[in-house]
Amino acid sequence: MQRTDFLVIGSGIAGLTYALKMANRFPERKVLVMTKALDDETNTKYAQGGIAVVNDMENDSYAKHIEDTLIAGDGICNEKVVEIVVKEGPERVQEIIDWGAQFDKEEDGDYKRGKEGGHSEFRILHHKDVTGKEMERALLEAVDRQPNIEFVHHCFVIDIITQHHMGFLVTKATPDIECYGVYVLNLETNRIEKIISKITVLATGGNGQVYRTTTNPSIATGDGVAMVYRAKGKIENMEFIQFHPTALYEPGLRGHAFLITEAVRGDGGILRNMKGEAFMERYDPRKDLAPRDIVARAIDSEMKKTGTEHVWLDCRHFSKEKFTEHFPNIYEKCLSIGIDITKTMIPVAPAAHYSCGGIKTDEWGRSSVKHLYACGECASTGLHGANRLASNSLLEAMVFAHRCFLDGAEIIKDIAFNDSLPDWNAEGTTEPREMILITQSLKELQLVMSDYVGIVRNDTRLQRAMRRLDLLWEETEQLYQSSSLSPQLLELRNMITVGYLIVKGASFRKESRGLHFNTDYPEKSVLVQNIVL
Ligand code: FAD
Ligand code: SIN
Repeated sequence: MQRTDFLVIGSGIAGLTYALKMANRFPERKVLVMTKALDDETNTKYAQGGIAVVNDMENDSYAKHIEDTLIAGDGICNEKVVEIVVKEGPERVQEIIDWGAQFDKEEDGDYKRGKEGGHSEFRILHHKDVTGKEMERALLEAVDRQPNIEFVHHCFVIDIITQHHMGFLVTKATPDIECYGVYVLNLETNRIEKIISKITVLATGGNGQVYRTTTNPSIATGDGVAMVYRAKGKIENMEFIQFHPTALYEPGLRGHAFLITEAVRGDGGILRNMKGEAFMERYDPRKDLAPRDIVARAIDSEMKKTGTEHVWLDCRHFSKEKFTEHFPNIYEKCLSIGIDITKTMIPVAPAAHYSCGGIKTDEWGRSSVKHLYACGECASTGLHGANRLASNSLLEAMVFAHRCFLDGAEIIKDIAFNDSLPDWNAEGTTEPREMILITQSLKELQLVMSDYVGIVRNDTRLQRAMRRLDLLWEETEQLYQSSSLSPQLLELRNMITVGYLIVKGASFRKESRGLHFNTDYPEKSVLVQNIVL
């Protein structure tokens, strides 16, 4: 059993930014950061294109960034939150620069600025095509320098502890559900431990692994969202799953797909169908740089027409020098599988990329559960609405980590530890006999979600998905009740919950808006609403 004033779950940009700020403000208090994998194995590390921020007041303005975000969000962004993120963004970006992150500069010392889909200006700061890796590096090094941050990896948080674990009945209608800490499966000792905390921050990232192919690494299993849902907290807008239009297509690949950043199209890459036609002009006047939902649906439609599993991204007109200067990582990756981008087009297909919805928070990152905050991709702050504008998520994570910090710093003095929490009860469980049952169920879940709850949906498909998820849920719950816990089983259980929330949100939304396109309701409804589950 451990006690900590501040418990941060997740070591990506959101969790580390928060931890650094809190540790710096309260050098006498402990900040405990937990992660279920290696320190840097996060979605953050894989971010390519960069961070969208107004940093050139001559050509750009807050008003333009706000407008681009609202247009992409398709009518359901929280306008106040959009303004907060856009206007507080520059200060947060300066902070990570001060912590050591480097963004590419022109010879005259000004920042290089990229452009991606839906942006009206060049405003994306980047570090080659490995921006996330650079930011994660800088954050981890800063954390290393901060003596009152304790960092533990390979600790899998199972559930947040609330009144429910003390024997009280907790329902969605219970007022003041409170978080007192978490239960954790220590993957090194294989024991389940109890961590008591005054303030807990979920920064657990996305859920791309719910789909068959995703740009997200294997940690992205929606654990935080599933935990809050089980604790009867509020989750919203889960139907808005963003598919990135251009993941590298590798035949037979399942799971983590390599991303070809949208910045490639920002620099002039052109999407072509099997006949070699530059098809985007038929779908949107912004062509290859239309918002992601539009480009992904256009690619999906072209692939369906020709019965192929990919389209092409044409970069043959780039010089090798120009391409490798901005995209050395992509150049090397393509070359490693036999594609010289100056001679051959790159096969690309959409892949699950980002969860716009998540744990519902207010403008200070407070979830509906007391003393539990959420920031980063697991949170639904209201910024993205029905579709996230490219490169807005790193920015959102930093702005909201800061806001969680400000709020937490105010209230910490009034919170006491709850020392009457029970230990985890593992009575009656035995070693699982067949791990294959877990891997098979995971494959089934990913197939169901990809085939029935992908880019284009309809009611029949959603009903089918729900029936199949019900069965998977029942079988997995039996395993969970009777087996000793493993990360694979915990992740499967969480992913089924997340799948259920996506299908449920999609079924409630009787319209097509942003990333949610249902052929039974192709128009936008006049009723503008968030779906809270
Ligand atoms: P993450 O960085 O994903 O970190 C999550 C952390 O939570 C991990 O440490 C994980 O181990 C931990 N965790 C999860 N569950 C548990 C558990 N049960 N117990 C303990 N620990 C747990 N956004 C942009 O703005 N610009 C870009 O250019 C960009 N490019 C992208 C490219 C790719 C390939 C991908 C996948 C995403 C990209 N994004 C981009 C999105 C952006 O990277 C993510 O939204 C953001 O990094 C999420 O940060 P986070 O801190 O919320 O979560
Ligand atoms: C990309 O580089 O294309 C991804 C950017 C993002 O997801 O915001």
